[in-house]
Amino acid sequence: MIILKEVSKDYLLPGGQRLRVLDKISFELGDKTFNSVLGPSGCGKSTILNLIAGLDNHSSGQISIDGKKTGFVFQQPRLLNWRTVVDNVILPLEADDFDKETRRQFAFKYLRLVGLGGYEDYFPLQLSGGMQQRVAIARALVIEPDILLMDEPFSGLDELTARKLRQELVRIWQETGKTILFVTHSISEAVFLSQQILIVTQKPARIFKRITIEAPYPRQYGDLRLFEIETDLTKDFLGMDSWDR
Ligand SMILES: Nc1ncnc2c1ncn2[C@@H]1O[C@H](COP(=O)(O)OP(=O)(O)OP(=O)(O)O)[C@@H](O)[C@H]1O
Ligand SMILES: [Mg+2]
Repeated sequence: MIILKEVSKDYLLPGGQRLRVLDKISFELGDKTFNSVLGPSGCGKSTILNLIAGLDNHSSGQISIDGKKTGFVFQQPRLLNWRTVVDNVILPLEADDFDKETRRQFAFKYLRLVGLGGYEDYFPLQLSGGMQQRVAIARALVIEPDILLMDEPFSGLDELTARKLRQELVRIWQETGKTILFVTHSISEAVFLSQQILIVTQKPARIFKRITIEAPYPRQYGDLRLFEIETDLTKDFLGMDSWDR
């Protein structure tokens, strides 16, 4: 279980003023659940992930991740173009004690899981954007994290590729049993993927609403029940005072 309790974050600006980005954010993520943070551009979504990953410090409140390991997938794949696919995936293992062959075995396993078996020796620029993002997912999984933090990982892809990757992400989540926290500004993406959606307001981000979606997996595009949930959520957004600011 991951618990955030009244977590606030202020950035110190160059002039010395404080900018409040997160305002008393509280939520819980159950083990092995799929969760999304849904909010407008610039509201503080990435900040939430960075705090959970320990890439940045919060100003007040408590974050408890129970000693669990986190893996991170960014909006852009951030691969090293001069290294092969397999050498990109083993990168996070290089500080560990594993020998080279063990590291490669790990990388091969996760490349197969993301559907890239056979592409180990390609270079990133020989792959499509969607395939590069799969490599990034394998790189996040290779350290065998308990929690997968994903920051708008599909927003740079065309819609058909994004749809395919969302379906595959659900499969990977079910096969690996990770706890996922997925950031998006797309209502339909959050509804398709999540058991729990945390809607956050414009900056400073507060939790506006928490929604749970019971629909079973795998979910289908065009499912009318999901569409109804999406329509209701859209109404919520329009009612959310500062959404458009
Ligand atoms: N290191 C920093 N110093 C000062 N301000 C920052 C810093 N990092 C982020 N901010 C500010 O915090 C706010 C929230 O940023 P954040 O990147 O978390 O938003 P976001 O919801 O992920 O945005 P987007 O949808 O564009 O990805 C922004 O207004 C940004 O200007
Ligand atoms: Mg962001």
